[in-house]
This record gives sequence, structure tokens and C-alpha cells, in this order.
Amino acid sequence: MMAQKSSLFEADRKCADQDSIGAASQTSASSSSSSSLKRQWDGDEEDHSPSKKQATEESLHSQKVATHYNKLQERGLAERNKSRIVHMRNFNNWLKSVLIADILDKVRRRRREVTVLDLGCGKGGDLLKWKKGHIDKLVCADIAAVSIEQCQQRYNDMRRRGHPNDRTFSAEFITADCSKELLSDKLQDPELRFDVCSCQFVCHYSFESEQQADTMLRNACERLQPGGFFIGTTPDAYELVKRLEVSDSNSFGNEVFRVTFQKKADYPLFGCQYDFSLEGVVNVPEFLVYFPLFEEMAKKYNMRLVYKKTFKEFFEEKVKDEKNKVLMQWMQALEQYPPDERGQLASDSLGEYDHAKRVAARRPVGTLSKSEWEATSIYLVYVFEKMA
Ligand SMILES: C[S@@+](CC[C@H](N)C(=O)[O-])C[C@H]1O[C@@H](n2cnc3c(N)ncnc32)[C@H](O)[C@@H]1O
Repeated sequence: MMAQKSSLFEADRKCADQDSIGAASQTSASSSSSSSLKRQWDGDEEDHSPSKKQATEESLHSQKVATHYNKLQERGLAERNKSRIVHMRNFNNWLKSVLIADILDKVRRRRREVTVLDLGCGKGGDLLKWKKGHIDKLVCADIAAVSIEQCQQRYNDMRRRGHPNDRTFSAEFITADCSKELLSDKLQDPELRFDVCSCQFVCHYSFESEQQADTMLRNACERLQPGGFFIGTTPDAYELVKRLEVSDSNSFGNEVFRVTFQKKADYPLFGCQYDFSLEGVVNVPEFLVYFPLFEEMAKKYNMRLVYKKTFKEFFEEKVKDEKNKVLMQWMQALEQYPPDERGQLASDSLGEYDHAKRVAARRPVGTLSKSEWEATSIYLVYVFEKMA
């Protein structure tokens, strides 16, 4: 127990350090909020044992998640390009591409055949990344049956369109609530082992209860090979609470996103719900993921944290590599400031490009508007490795 506590203090200190580095949000750290989260983790918190009411709420929430994502329309490229947040979406996509390519490079040094689990795959937004990474087998799982159908369709289209000499990976598609059901019961080959599990923008839905978060982690990690990786992206509880604490209401945001908590100053480790809306559309409720707790829970599945970085830190490190910079331009992950004669900025609101104006005096720079940057800098990237 002592060892467990000291490692948490470590993790806490690292998080606190990051607060001062991650300056993009223009907010100041609130030590009371972070210590309140940590206090709860240290044990002086209410009982988490499930009650009947809680179980009903959890099941309602799962239905809400599935219904929400099932209803989401697949938007064509032209439509997506018109969005106010097109560059932020491209930026997030670039970040996932770099993360996935890096991890596949590492795995390939040790293994010839690579098998991947895409947990919470959605409509298959990462299929091309797996194809470019030359993997051999992919298992896609999601709670939303319609998303899984569309993902499978996209995979079939990708195979059909590919060059006859192109070897596309084989794939399996599973509809499951991965915070409640075990994927191992649904796999075609119950002995299958994964080299990578990728969980992009998903884990925060499972932190409604300890049981759900544990089942999600179990699905992500229990079938990983020793030396295999669990990678993902999730909102940073510190960043969310920090911004909430300096706001004068239960909410904070800007012209592209808004986060609304039910109350302030009380942040339970599980079930701490908030609403996230993007471009005015309210998403399904999400739950805070307190990262030191996430890290501790992953140890149960023999997982060691390799790194956790804010999107800002990850971007600043990876963009130094020329191939990532080229990919960034190709994916249009940043917009040009000032725009060329045919171009138009994503926002014409006052102050959205002041940060770019300061550095663009001599030549155009690539940037995101202030509002998009504030939205994307809420997130974290993490990489865990399965111990032998
Ligand atoms: C924000 S989307 C991300 C989709 C995809 N990973 C990506 O990066 O494009 C979140 C996805 O998580 C899925 N999801 C949420 N809760 C889940 C659960 N309990 N089990 C499986 N999938 C879940 C949703 O259906 C949705 O497809």
C-alpha cells in the first residue's frame, strides 16, 4: 500500500508540473481542485459500491452513448471541410496518425505479424492509419451497432478500391459495450492476442463507475502480448477542473466548444459527469478520468506507463521530425496565417489569431485559431506497455 501511495504522489507531482507547462489554456492552476481529486483517491471518499439506482443510471447512460453515436451522420469530405473546426479535427487526426505510426514502428522491431484491437473504433476513422501501418489483423469494437456497420462498410470499400497487389489486413467487427461485456467472449478466436490496443477518445465514457472503468481496461489490456502497447487519447481531468475552477459559473468554453459540470468543488473519482458540446452540438455525457487513478488501475493488468503527454507537448515534440511536419501539411492540420489571396480564416472573431500575428510578421505560419487550440489542449495522449 505504501508503494502504491508514493507512486501516486509521484504521478500527482508530474501532473502539477504539467499545469504550468501547458500554457495554451490561459488559465491558472487551482491547487484546491487537484488536491481534492487526490484526497478522494487517497481513500477519504464515499463508498463506491453499486446500488440499484446506480445500475439503472449506468445502463441508461450506455444506451444514450450508443443512440448518440448511432444517429451521427457520416459527413462527406466537402461537408467536413466547411466546418468551423476543420483544422482542429485534422490536427487531432494528425496526432493519432503520428502516435499510431510510432507505436507500430516499435512493435515491428520485435514482431513480423501485427494484430491490433481498435477499442471504440466508431465509424472506422483510423482504418487508413492501420492500412498505412501494414498491420495483419484488426479487431474493431464499439458500443454503437450502426457505427460498426459503417466501419465494416468502409473496410470493404477500402479493400475493393485497393490495388490487387495491395495486401489489406483481415478484420473482425464486434458490437459490444466494452465497459460491461468481455470482448474475449465475443472474439472468433478465443486465443487471439494483440500487439496494440488503441482506444482513441473513448475511456472517459467508462469512468461512470469503478466496475465499468475496470472492464474497459480489462478489455484493452488482458489480451495484449507481453511488450504490447495500450495507446489512447482522453480529456485531462486536471485541465478540465483547472478551467472550471477559474470560471465564474459551472461552465467554460468559447465559440467552438463548451464544457458544463453539474457542480463545482466536488469531483468524485468515478461518475464525475460533465457535458461537452462542440460547434453547439451537445455530445453524450462524459466522466472525468483522473490520470493517476487510471495509471494505478492499469497496473492490475500488468501495464507500465511509458508516457503521458498533453496534446501540446506531443505536438511540440513530434513536429520537429520532418516526416511528421510533411504529414501535417498534407493533412492540413494547421491553417495558414495570414491566409493567401484565395484563402479565408476559419474565424473572423477578434483576437482569434493574435498569437499567430505576433510570429507571422516576416512570413506566414501554420496555426489553429485560439478557440480551437483551447479545445484541443484539453486532451492527453498516453502509452502503456504490457510487462512480461
Ligand atoms: C469520440 S468517438 C471516437 C471514435 C474513434 N475512436 C475515433 O477516434 O475516431 C467515441 C467512440 O467510443 C464509443 N464508445 C463509447 N462508450 C463505449 C463503450 N462502453 N464500449 C464501446 N464503445 C464505446 C462510441 O460509440 C464512439 O464510437
